[in-house]
Amino acid sequence: MSGSSSAPPADELSAVTLTDSAAAGVAEAEFSQRVLIRSIIRRPDGGAGLAGQRVRVGGWVKKGRKQRAIAFLEVNDGSCDANLQVLVDAELVTTLGEVTVAQIVPTGTCVHVEGTLKVPPEGTVQRIELNVEKVLDLGTVNAAKYPLPKTKLSLEFIRDYVHLRPRTNAISAIARIRNALAYATHTFFQKHGFLYVHTPIITTSDCEGAGEMFQVTTLINDAEKLEKELTKIPADLEAAKILAKDKGEIVAQLKSAKASDAEISAAVSELKIAKENLKKLEEKSKLKPGIPKKDGKIDYGQDFFARQAFLTVSGQLQVETYACALSSVYTFGPTFRAEHSHTTRHLAEFWMVEPEIAFADIQDDMNCAEAFVKFLCQWLLDNCRDDMEFMVEKFDKNAIDRLEMVAATGFVRLSYTDAVAILEEASKEVNFENKVEWGIDLASEHERYLTEVKYKKPVIVYNYPKGIKAFYMKVNADNKTVAAMDVLVPKVGELIGGSQREERYEVIRDRILEMGLPLEPYEWYLDLRRFGTVKHSGFGLGFERMILFATGIDNIRDVIPFPRYPGRADL
Ligand code: 4AD
Ligand code: MG
Repeated sequence: MSGSSSAPPADELSAVTLTDSAAAGVAEAEFSQRVLIRSIIRRPDGGAGLAGQRVRVGGWVKKGRKQRAIAFLEVNDGSCDANLQVLVDAELVTTLGEVTVAQIVPTGTCVHVEGTLKVPPEGTVQRIELNVEKVLDLGTVNAAKYPLPKTKLSLEFIRDYVHLRPRTNAISAIARIRNALAYATHTFFQKHGFLYVHTPIITTSDCEGAGEMFQVTTLINDAEKLEKELTKIPADLEAAKILAKDKGEIVAQLKSAKASDAEISAAVSELKIAKENLKKLEEKSKLKPGIPKKDGKIDYGQDFFARQAFLTVSGQLQVETYACALSSVYTFGPTFRAEHSHTTRHLAEFWMVEPEIAFADIQDDMNCAEAFVKFLCQWLLDNCRDDMEFMVEKFDKNAIDRLEMVAATGFVRLSYTDAVAILEEASKEVNFENKVEWGIDLASEHERYLTEVKYKKPVIVYNYPKGIKAFYMKVNADNKTVAAMDVLVPKVGELIGGSQREERYEVIRDRILEMGLPLEPYEWYLDLRRFGTVKHSGFGLGFERMILFATGIDNIRDVIPFPRYPGRADL
């Protein structure tokens, strides 16, 4: 197992606080009836100092074998990459009923056991093992049917089992790294006085103006429901007519028989109900099946929000409203893009960290982006050593070097114009698929050339041509470029996209019109410029791209728990 000799994770990340003293006891995990395996194995002494202690552990068998009447299980509970060796005597297993010792050795079996920690015999790899004295619970596995029985499975293969893949070493290490990066993100911004703002997931404005939004509507379900109802209506209508007629006759009969007032009024109310029901059905029978239309277009007035709505592509526009009041803010949440990109860098649902800073220009923005990325890298080096060593061993031998390099090196800052000049020069030797000339949107191959080949470190490209960037970016004095910046990193290419925002009312209004966008949906956004406008800047860091960069994993689908991409949305 990798990294057993390195330092334990920081206390900040543990539910259990350990002291360095080898003699210290081991605390039970909070809110769960067991000790975290990490708090045994990841001690500086590998757990040896805990020999003699009675503990309960729970986890899933990674590898198991039966030797004579004893099961040797390597158990993992996800608290760290390492397994605890657990020894169970056959007799103990049978105390639980029909289960045999052979049934607890298959990979995937869940065990919850109690026993005494002991130092294994000399010559064993483990420094501590658990001698089980009581089997509390077992969750057996039919090995012939379990989809992930082996330990060496490709990431691509396990992508078909998103519900079981967290049990694999790779996905659980990635999950811990992802968790650490989320914690680090909040730590960084909180430390620097930023306020966390929850921006909406359902939105009525398109931030990037790229038309890549998923629509949120109930019109389709409603239409389907109505269609079903309409098929039943003729029969229901017929029955309702007969009922109303019957009820009418009853009233007439009671009246002519001079029945009591009470009897007549009871019959009259029944008749009323029958008539109302008939009326409702008659009205419904007039409805047309399908999506409601008005003047030949879909009538969104009848949709859930009485207007068109979408899943957000970015929380930026909304978080700007808080930056223009609370100064330094950030949002961190899921974003959605209906791009048909089948690349290893794109997801249809991904997470973005978006700070927005008032009284800040593009330089401040770049400084913040650089400090943030460096902080994330240093955090992983300090808190996720074991998992990073696992990444180095299994996926990318440079992963730790890359983090160290980024944490310690200043980022190159290059204007778009200079970047294009460098790429034009390079294209004399390098065969780029996309032609380089001033005005193009840099392709992934260009970005990666700059960061991986030319500078071999992160590069911030700034001042892009305004024609290729979003309407909200600040127009520079040259009137040709905008104060945009992209952070490019080795292995990934674009990690961050950001800009200084256009704070001048007339200029931004004209930009919206110039881009052929309607003004009406952006009136609230224009208000931020009409009333107390402020110079401000921000950026968006693609969270999964950061994980790709850190881990060296090749495909973005493996660094998010539940990947969504064209044709695929499991669970
Ligand atoms: O460059 P983008 O489109 O910028 C924005 O959305 C701005 N509104 C952010 C802001 O200024 N607040 O996206 C930001 C980052 C990209 O640099 C990239 O890392 C990531 O989001 N990203 C994606 N990640 C995964 N899958 C996709 N389809 C992505 N699209 C963008
Ligand atoms: Mg971008």
